[in-house]
Amino acid sequence: MRLSVIGCGYLGAVHAAAMASIGHDVVGIDVDERKIETLSKGEAPFFEPGLQEILTEGIESGRLRFTTDMAAASGSKVHFVGVGTPQQKDGYAADLTYVNAAIDGLLPYLSPGDIVAGKSTVPVGTAAELAPRVEATGATLVWNPEFLREGWAVKDTIDPDRLVVGVSSHFARSTTGAEATTGDGEVNPADVLREVYHPAVAKGTPFIVTDLATSELVKVAANAFLATKISFINAMAEIAEVTGADVTQLADALGHDERIGRRFLGAGIGFGGGCLPKDIRAFSARAEELGRGESVAFLREVDAINLRRRDRAVDLVVNAFGGSVFKKNVTVLGAAFKPHSDDIRDSPALDVAVRLHGLGAWVTITDPAALENAQRLHPQLNYVPDRDEAIRGADALILVTEWDEYRRELSPEHASTLATGRVVVDGRNGLDAAAWRAAGWTYYGMGRP
Ligand code: UDX
Repeated sequence: MRLSVIGCGYLGAVHAAAMASIGHDVVGIDVDERKIETLSKGEAPFFEPGLQEILTEGIESGRLRFTTDMAAASGSKVHFVGVGTPQQKDGYAADLTYVNAAIDGLLPYLSPGDIVAGKSTVPVGTAAELAPRVEATGATLVWNPEFLREGWAVKDTIDPDRLVVGVSSHFARSTTGAEATTGDGEVNPADVLREVYHPAVAKGTPFIVTDLATSELVKVAANAFLATKISFINAMAEIAEVTGADVTQLADALGHDERIGRRFLGAGIGFGGGCLPKDIRAFSARAEELGRGESVAFLREVDAINLRRRDRAVDLVVNAFGGSVFKKNVTVLGAAFKPHSDDIRDSPALDVAVRLHGLGAWVTITDPAALENAQRLHPQLNYVPDRDEAIRGADALILVTEWDEYRRELSPEHASTLATGRVVVDGRNGLDAAAWRAAGWTYYGMGRP
C-alpha cells in the first residue's frame, strides 16, 4: 500500500522504515531539511537498535524515501501523522502547533477515500476537533496511537502488543471486525488499517476498534498508569529509607502477585524521557479544562514523587562526603534517560549530573550513546566517552542510567583499580550491592539499607 508518514522524529522515522520493511511503499515527510538529508542517505538520525538496518534495506529496495515536500503525500492511501506534541513553554498543556501545521499542510494533497491516521499523543478531544477539516476533502480521520518504547521501537512498531484504531462514530457502530463496509458501501477505515498492519493482524495481535476519544485516552491512560507504577514504588522507597526496609526485595515480593507484576517496579531516580513526564502533565491540564481536574489530581503527586528522587540521589552523594561535594571528582555513569537510547529529553541522569556540578563537584559524565546530545545541551560539563577513563581518579561513582556496561560489565574490583575513592551511589538499584561492599566500597542504593 502507498503510505505517507508526516513527521520523521522518533515515532515517524521508525514508523516509516518499519512500514517499508513489511512491504509498503512509503514516503516520510518532515520540515527539517537536515533530518531528511540524513534519512535519505539511509542513516538513522538517532540511536535506536535495528533502525539502521531497516532504513538501509528500505532505501535500497526503493520502497522508502524521504522528502521535505508535502506534495509527495499525494497518491498515498493512508497518511500517518506522527509529529511531536511537546509540553507548552508556559504551562503543562500539550503544544499542538505541529499537529495543526501537519494537518493543514496535508489538506491540499488529500483525495476522497484517503485516510489520515493520527499517531501523535494528543489531548483527548483533539481528533474530533480536527476531523471536520479532514472530512471536507473527502478523506477520513482515524486515531491510531503509538505505544512504542525507545530502545524497542522497531519491534514495538512491527510486532506491537496491541493495535488501537479510533474511528468516528458512524464507523465505530459498524465495526465488528468482520464487516469491511458500512451499510452504505463505504469502506471502513479500520479495515484499511488492518491491511496496513497485516503481519501483526495475521498473528492475532489484539486489534481494538473504538471511538476517537477512547483511542486518544488509551495512550495517555497507559502512560499515566506506567508513571504511577514507577512513582508508587519510589514512594515505597521513601518509606523504606526511614524504616530500614529494602525496596528491591519489596518489589520482588509484590511482583509475584500476578495482579501487580514486577515490571515497572524499578525504584531509583525515576522516569524521564520525551513521553511520561510531559504526557502526565498534559493529561492533568486537559482534565482541568474538562472540569475533571480532581480525577487525575494524583498525577501531580506522581510527578512530585518522581522529581524528589533526583534530589535524593544528589543528597546521597553529598552526604557521603559529609555535606559538601565541593571539588570532589564525581563520575556519573549514564546520561540517557534510559539504556538503549541516546535520548536525553528530561533525563533524570543528566539532571542529577547538572545539580552535582551546580554544587561545586567536578563532574565527569560517560554514556555509550548519549554523550553528544548531552554535550550539546550542557557544554559546561566534562564528557569522557571511555568508561574506564571516566572512572580514573574518581572520588565517587554514581550510576544513573542502567546500561549493561555499568550494571553487569563493570566489576567493583576493576573499578577499584581506576577510582581514587570508594563511594558508589546506585541511582538505579542496578548494581550487586554485596559484591561492591565486599570489594571495599561504601554502597548507597535508592530505598535500600
Ligand atoms: C514510554 C512508554 O513505555 C511507551 O509505551 C510510550 O509509547 C512512550 O513512553 P519510553 O519513554 O521509551 O516509553 O520509556 P520507558 O521504557 O517507559 O521508561 C520511561 C522512564 O521510566 C525511563 O526514564 C526509565 O528509566 C524509567 N523507569 C522505567 C523507572 O524508573 N523504573 C521502571 O521500573 C521502569
